[in-house]
Amino acid sequence: MTSPSQIIIHRPGSLGELHKHVSGKVLIVTDPGIVEAGHVDRAAALLEDVVVFDQVRENPTESDVAQCAQFARVTSPDCIVGLGGGSSMDTAKGALFLLSGGGVMSDYQGHGKAKGPMLPFIAIPTTAGTGSECQSYAVLCRDGSHEKMACGDPRAMAKVVILDPELTESMPLQVARLTALDALSHSLESAVSNNGTDKSRGLSFQAFGSIEPVIELILKGEGSLEDRNRMLVGSAFAGSAIEASMLGAAHAAANPLTAHFDVVHGHAVMSMLPSVMRWNARVVGCVYDELKPGLIDWVESLYELAELPPVEVPSEMIAQLATEAAKQWTGQFNPRPLAVMDFEGLYRRAFGES
Ligand SMILES: [Fe+2]
Repeated sequence: MTSPSQIIIHRPGSLGELHKHVSGKVLIVTDPGIVEAGHVDRAAALLEDVVVFDQVRENPTESDVAQCAQFARVTSPDCIVGLGGGSSMDTAKGALFLLSGGGVMSDYQGHGKAKGPMLPFIAIPTTAGTGSECQSYAVLCRDGSHEKMACGDPRAMAKVVILDPELTESMPLQVARLTALDALSHSLESAVSNNGTDKSRGLSFQAFGSIEPVIELILKGEGSLEDRNRMLVGSAFAGSAIEASMLGAAHAAANPLTAHFDVVHGHAVMSMLPSVMRWNARVVGCVYDELKPGLIDWVESLYELAELPPVEVPSEMIAQLATEAAKQWTGQFNPRPLAVMDFEGLYRRAFGES
């Protein structure tokens, strides 16, 4: 598996090849759970000169990234390895921006605002979901809020991606479920994005083709090493598809749910995805049929298979959620446009109101 600017290695045990792709002092950016799982020790044992920043937090903020960048300034690495879930990779990517150009992360919001060359970046996901390893964007939160900020530049793309399904064994079942559903949603939203191209749709279809045969086993906690490998590859393909085409209204509607009710991203997206797909079917139903007959009902059935509880949304909050969803950048790429009142309708349908 290759892309023009990345080397992607995908096989069980491929973490053992890390030393072939780095040189000099290596900074590993990770979180305490990944240290506890033993993955950092395994990676560090392969390297001669290594320092570890293990303070990554979920939904990293501007300040979290600044802290990581400061650690890097003090330790002066020659390359950076993001080892963990999307939060580790986003923190590492954010630090690349600050190290190369200074300032604060909000200076880089948007696309192509990096000010200089960046250190080589190697991405090693330990979850199969975000696809961050194949994206040039660091998705971060503004300090003091859950407001998402996307900072992207081609120079922030990982030079090497190591997909080792042995690393995903340590994921708790609920994390495996929610990240798998997020990856599925990435393949489905990017497949119908109004910003898509033949190439991006090809990536979305490849992602779906890799994920669809194994996701039920993953959700049941019965996935084999090979099944988890397929999930990792599918998640990476979906990440590449997002890079080329962006997402849609399920992500736009999910972000306010995470912001107000702390609903985990994959859960929030999944609670909205079937409603958004029914809304979209009028214009892209043929694409859904091409992906899988009965696709929307099947997606809906996965919510139960993953044993996700219903998201509790007070009806008096729906107008505010809809206003916020309509402002989300990602919503503009939805194939059927939505106004605030349309988002209200989606929320009411998703949460069982008429
Ligand atoms: Fe997502």
